[in-house]
Amino acid sequence: MRTTIQDIFRTYKYFISATVGLIILLNIVFQSSNELDPASLNKTTRSKSTTTTTQKPHQYLRNLQTIESRLGENFPYDPTTEIEKNIWQFWSDVKSLPNGCGKLIDIFKSDDNLKDGEWTHHLNSTEEILELVSTELIQYVPEVQEALAILPHPRLRYEFLRYLLIFIKGGLYADIDIKLFKPLRYWYESRYESNQVYLMIESDYNDLQWESLYNRRLAFSNSLFMCKSNHPFLAKLIAKITYIIHTKKEHILSINWDEQFKIVDANNEPTVSITSQSILTDMLFDYINDANKEHILISVSREGDPETNVKNIENHESSEFSSIYGPEVPENLKYSYKSFTLSVAPTQIDDIVILPYISIHGMGDEDEDEQLDVENSINEGYKKYYYAKSMHLTPWTLLVNN
Ligand SMILES: *[C@@H]1O[C@H](CO)[C@@H](O)[C@H](O)[C@H]1NC(C)=O
Ligand SMILES: *[C@@H]1O[C@H](CO)[C@@H](O)[C@H](O)[C@H]1NC(C)=O
Repeated sequence: MRTTIQDIFRTYKYFISATVGLIILLNIVFQSSNELDPASLNKTTRSKSTTTTTQKPHQYLRNLQTIESRLGENFPYDPTTEIEKNIWQFWSDVKSLPNGCGKLIDIFKSDDNLKDGEWTHHLNSTEEILELVSTELIQYVPEVQEALAILPHPRLRYEFLRYLLIFIKGGLYADIDIKLFKPLRYWYESRYESNQVYLMIESDYNDLQWESLYNRRLAFSNSLFMCKSNHPFLAKLIAKITYIIHTKKEHILSINWDEQFKIVDANNEPTVSITSQSILTDMLFDYINDANKEHILISVSREGDPETNVKNIENHESSEFSSIYGPEVPENLKYSYKSFTLSVAPTQIDDIVILPYISIHGMGDEDEDEQLDVENSINEGYKKYYYAKSMHLTPWTLLVNN
């Protein structure tokens, strides 16, 4: 049993190393053309265009595309308004937070960060978030609610919940042990396009040995991210997790997750999971490589890159970055780790912003007492993208014991 699920994840690993990425992608596209259900109900959804009665896809758990389109139908995305100015943090018991986390949460809550009352900070119990999310899901996409309920381990639920919460409510999600350094009003905003998704590069190991140390050549963090409510990228991610849970239910229930979570890569990322940053990373690539949509790379800025900024991916392929190590990428795959590796400034693809490694790590030489950069005094060079840092104060065992 256990080997089976490991095999699945090995497949994902290849996916991100992009050797079979396109095959999987084509498979998904094929499935979608295969599932035009003639018996679709025509009840109206919450879509603003209530006058049209288009055919809605039936609930069908064994089809990824159906789950994704049901999320899209029932939670229509509005790209014209900005990301909701919510900061969301939650923990099993907010009255007994792990040592040191209270102080970090206070920074998020401080006037210096929330200035002008633009942002609203929420600190809630996992139970409250579960209830908030469930109320919405049961009504519109019960299959997602069922998937959440099937998850047998608190860590899996805790991770899935954050995607669901931000999908439904929008805003910034932050683990309770994240130390904010740059007030949100100073975070990068593109002049070309409104930003609806912010992801940070959590790991980017540019070394021939990457595979012996990391699950992914490059991964995005799920400890701190920001997204507009109902964004199709989160719909894709949630659909994928829901699909895996329903189709691999027996395997998932048979795993001893406490044991499984002890097997981690150099980044403390479990080698097997269905909710973690690896799957978030895979789905981001899946989303931006979608053959049906044209996603435009607006800029990438790389250390030692002679033509920093405003260059497109076609040029990128022909330029000489001989010092990038990692798996082969098929020629026809537009985006891969190569699009973001070694970046020293935000990279934007349509409304998605990928923040460089420093954004969630700092330089590593900050002193213990560093304070929120209230006046934005660090506003030049790579260092100005240092936004926050994980203090690693919440080992999963604490979550389990609570
Ligand atoms: C559903 O739509 C079909 C046409 O697509 C129509 O004939 C039928 O009456 C509709 N049913 C309901 C319940 O509105
Ligand atoms: C979150 O906590 C605050 C403060 O306790 C409370 O007012 C709010 O209703 C809670 N939110 C949810 C969704 O339960």
